[in-house]
Amino acid sequence: MPEQKVLFLDKPKGSFVVANAPILKPGPGQISIKLKAAALNPVDWKIQDYDFFIKDYPAILGTDLAGDVEEIGDGVEGFSKGDKVFCQGYFVNDLAGFQQYTLMPADLVGKIPSNIDYAQAASIPLGYSTAAIGLLAAHPLGAGLNPTYDPTVKYTGESALVIGGSASVGQFAIQVFKHLGYSTIIAYASGRHTDFLKSIGATHVIDRGETPIGKVAETVKKIATTPLKVAYNAIGDADSRTACFDSIVEGGQVADVNPEAKDVGNGKTVIAIMGNSHVPVNREFGRILWKNLPKLVQDGAIVPNRVEKLPNGLAGINEGLQRMKANKISGEKLIALPQETV
Ligand SMILES: NC(=O)c1ccc[n+]([C@@H]2O[C@H](COP(=O)([O-])OP(=O)(O)OC[C@H]3O[C@@H](n4cnc5c(N)ncnc54)[C@H](OP(=O)(O)O)[C@@H]3O)[C@@H](O)[C@H]2O)c1
Repeated sequence: MPEQKVLFLDKPKGSFVVANAPILKPGPGQISIKLKAAALNPVDWKIQDYDFFIKDYPAILGTDLAGDVEEIGDGVEGFSKGDKVFCQGYFVNDLAGFQQYTLMPADLVGKIPSNIDYAQAASIPLGYSTAAIGLLAAHPLGAGLNPTYDPTVKYTGESALVIGGSASVGQFAIQVFKHLGYSTIIAYASGRHTDFLKSIGATHVIDRGETPIGKVAETVKKIATTPLKVAYNAIGDADSRTACFDSIVEGGQVADVNPEAKDVGNGKTVIAIMGNSHVPVNREFGRILWKNLPKLVQDGAIVPNRVEKLPNGLAGINEGLQRMKANKISGEKLIALPQETV
């Protein structure tokens, strides 16, 4: 069987090591992809530190991928060898990003639009999915703002808040609100990102260097043109969640990246997001998402994160994750290039 390089997390709370592993053939409904880019995400260092989601070790992580279609399984239509594609990985070795080849269910794969490259494409899947599932998908998975991507659904005149607007997920939440037609989109982020966040749809940026999290709701109420029915918490800690709850009306919703987030009462609902389309409950919405996402990117309605390409192929991932864990990444996505592994 032909072999490839992979990055194994060798055991629970263990180390990342480059190793050889077989290149798998796609089963029915799957394609195999030669990976050209894989993005790093906070979940990758959190799994290493805390050991969750993974059942079998050694484990391959990586949930944001882009590359070329290598082989096509039975029953797959609409893809040809060599097509440039992007998709979201899952927490099993067959479907993960930190390797040179992976398998993927074809219905959760999109073709990379011509206006972006592999690294930019790899910056989109997890962040966009976490924003879209939390805001668009039907209850209880999301806030139900547009579960079918109906282009006539618009929220013109309404206001929304994104805490952590410059985080990868936050950038996509801003863009989802913009695409839904929200008139006032308030982002809470470092002031240095103001121009960029306005370029992707924020109408106002509250500088977190000047306004403490405890004052956000008060500031939001001064800015908002209409009372907020929905807020997105891209940070997921308790203070950010409280700021979201304090900013919205009774009966409003907070979509929160913390999967453990709970309601606080007052008739306000928290949506604890599971931002992965492979999870069975998300699968139906995931198919709709992947049907729509490539065109949204092609049309410029969704733009990728700004990216930094890492050196040393798969071996460079460990250092990137350490930088991420140390909060040294701001407003960018780190991208590994698996084919550059020696
Ligand atoms: N539930 C899910 O399925 C799911 C999926 C994806 C991610 N997540 C979680 O969502 C969170 C964000 O992920 P990500 O990939 O978007 O992270 P990221 O891009 O690495 O986030 C980094 C950004 O966070 C911002 N930040 C940090 N603390 C902040 C605070 N207190 N208030 C406002 N902004 C703050 C920083 O903003 P400034 O540069 O502006 O200071 C920095 O740019 C992580 O906790 C991740 O684990 C959950």
